[in-house]
Parts: sequence; structure tokens; C-alpha cells
Amino acid sequence: MAKNSARIVAARAREILDSRGNPTVEAEILTTSSVGRASVPSGASKGKHEAVELRDGDATRFHGKGVTKAVSNINRIIGPRLKGLECGDQRRIDKTMIRLDGTPNKGKLGANAILALSMASARASANGDLVSLFARMRASKRYTLPVPMMNVINGGEHAGNELSIQEFLVEPVGAKSCGEAIRMGAEVYQSLKGILASRYGKGAINVGDEGGFAPPLGKTRDSLTSIADAIKDAGYGEKQIRLGIDAAASTFYNQTTDTYVVDRKSMTPSKLEDFYTSLSDEYGLLTIEDPFSEDSFDSFAAITGRLGRTTKIIGDDIYVTNVGRIRKGMRAKATNAVLIKLNQIGTVSETEDAIELAQRARWSVVVSHRSGDTEDPFIAHLATAFGADFIKTGAPARGERVAKYNELIRIEEELGSRASYAGRRF
Ligand code: PGA
Ligand code: ZN
Repeated sequence: MAKNSARIVAARAREILDSRGNPTVEAEILTTSSVGRASVPSGASKGKHEAVELRDGDATRFHGKGVTKAVSNINRIIGPRLKGLECGDQRRIDKTMIRLDGTPNKGKLGANAILALSMASARASANGDLVSLFARMRASKRYTLPVPMMNVINGGEHAGNELSIQEFLVEPVGAKSCGEAIRMGAEVYQSLKGILASRYGKGAINVGDEGGFAPPLGKTRDSLTSIADAIKDAGYGEKQIRLGIDAAASTFYNQTTDTYVVDRKSMTPSKLEDFYTSLSDEYGLLTIEDPFSEDSFDSFAAITGRLGRTTKIIGDDIYVTNVGRIRKGMRAKATNAVLIKLNQIGTVSETEDAIELAQRARWSVVVSHRSGDTEDPFIAHLATAFGADFIKTGAPARGERVAKYNELIRIEEELGSRASYAGRRF
């Protein structure tokens, strides 16, 4: 479909709250025929190579986390510069903002300011033509909907427990559709709630930042066993619903000694690789994300060489959705899959470039939310537009998480027989 040629008339922004109760940026693009609104998420276990999230640092507001500078950058500097551009010309809009910022990491105007406008212009373009956002991002006759990766137990920096591993995910690859996969994941979530409460007491069903349970456990295996039992309890087999983890290993890495502390044990990179391998054997892990710290390309390559035939080794903090770093990972054969987060790089078109680079190399693509997120379901459209293999957007619970799953249900309904499900690929 041709892009919308309506011109941008104005842009405006405001400070709103994310799911953790911290401020974030929401922006609107007004054109001669439509309005597009978008808001940006924010991570906790951020990669050190991510684009800059501009925060005020003024301790009198939001403990220094205010985003009034980013908001004002939109209202006073970027917005006026976008006036007159075609809202459907995503690349031109993004390039204009990248040039205006002038730094390699969007540190001057803020990736949070730039991304909010980039997303809002995509929406304004779709709205102006009364088409869905996914169809505007990439026109196609058929679309493939992603396998939901649902984070049902939270640890690491997302929870107040002792679990070293940050995320424990269920992946209903055996569903017939994305909607059915969402139902299966939600059923497992409820089964898990019962199992955790009966084994570990009522305190075990409190939830973490991404809506998964945050039980007072300290052992990786106890989490995985509870989930495997919940899958059985919900009436599913190991082939229908696979398991995955996001170690977010930079959060438990000690650079001075080149060791990792997992389950209170200190491990060398090769011992940690053995640990993941045994978990993979015992629980049939389909995905392992960020098994090592963010600059350890060699350790990533070693585990990909060992497990990559059966397991998706996903790079998140190591790549930060940056084509330069992904290319480096390809040369090193560091992983066979990539995590994609819009706000790690800061524009829609650079995010699309990262996805297409990975797909050309036949890597699996996982479109992801952040642990601090909003009710904006943008990533459901991004994942559908590009036929991502997976979408990772938290537990099937809490508003900001189900906003994305519910949008996928709507998209699948809209597409009808034009939709297929990525679960078949596994
Ligand atoms: P973050 O975590 O949003 O806190 O960075 C998500 C992830 O590591 O995948
Ligand atoms: Zn991650």
C-alpha cells in the first residue's frame, strides 16, 4: 500500500507514567488528516550499549527520573523541524531526527524523545488511511503471527526474590494460532499460581515487574520444575509448550574475576555453559537469552556452537538492536537469534533494518517489550508486520502486558485466513 502523503502539522509530547510508576514520554503527531499517538517503554536490566534514555536528573521530581527535557525537546526542537514532512515517509522522518541529534547514541535529544515521534508518525500514517499499523509498516497478502514467549516467573532485577535468572518463559509452539497460544499460556499461568501457592505458600504468588510470579525461591531448577508441572497440570505436553529462559547474565557477572554468580555459586564461563547445557537437557529449553555478559562474544559463540542446533540462543544486551553489533555477532557466530527492542536503538526504521538483517541471515527474531512498559501495543504490529518468530511481552496478566496479547488477538481476527502462526516453524 502506498504510504500516506499527508503532511505533519504539529507534534506534541507529555510526561506519563510507565508500568513501574516511573515517568516516560508520550507523543502525538498531527497531520492534515489524522493523529497518531505513541509512548515509549523503559528497561531495568539495560544494556550498556543502548541508545540514551534522557532523564532530567532533577532530584525534586520523580527521584531524578523526570523526562521533561525529552518532552521539551519534542515540543520545542524536534516537532517544529518535522513540520511539512510526509507522515508516511518514515525513513525521512527518522533520518531528520537522527541528524538533528547528531550523536551516535541519540544522547543529545534523547532516544525516548525521538522514538516516541518515530512511532507516532507511523501511527498517524496508518490512521490517516484507515489501515492497521502492521499493514502500513509492511504491506503483504499474508502475515505470520509470532509465538508468544510468556514470562511466568520473574527473577533478577524484575523481582524482590533471590532468583539469579531474570525470566522463565512458556512458549506454546504447538498451538494452531496465536490466539490459541495465548489461551494456552494463560491456562498454564493459572495452573502455576496453584502449584506455587501449594508448594511455597501464599507469598509465592506475588508478581514481579512483568506480571510473572515472583516466588521466594533461590534455585533455577525449582522455577523450571514448577513451570514444567504447571504445563502438565494444564493438560499440555512438552512438545506443545516449550520452555525458555532469559538469564540477563550481565546482571550477575563479575568483570574483575570473569565469573558469574548463579544460585549462590560462582561459575567460570565454561562452568556456566555446562549449567545451561544440563538445564537444556533436563527441561528441553527452546530458547536461552543473554546466557553471558554483554561483551562476551566468545562465550556466546561457544554455547551457540554447542546447543545451536536445537536451541535458539538469543542476543539482547549484546546487540541492543544495533545493526553494527548484530553484524559483529554474525561474524563471530555468537548467536542464532536476536532480541528486538525499539527503544534500544531509538527509531522505527533502524529497528526494521535490524530485523531484516537478522532475517537475511536466517536468525530467529524476537520482538520484545521492556520491563517498564505502557499500554501502547505497538510491538504487536511490529512483530506481525515482519513475521517475527516470537514476541516477548511478559506474563498473560497486568494491563501493559495483555495490551499486546489482546492486540494480537484482534490482528489475527482481522486477518482471518490471511494469517498463519509461527509455531509451525518449530
Ligand atoms: P529490561 O528486561 O526491559 O528490564 O531490560 C527485558 C529483557 O532483558 O529482555
Ligand atoms: Zn533480555
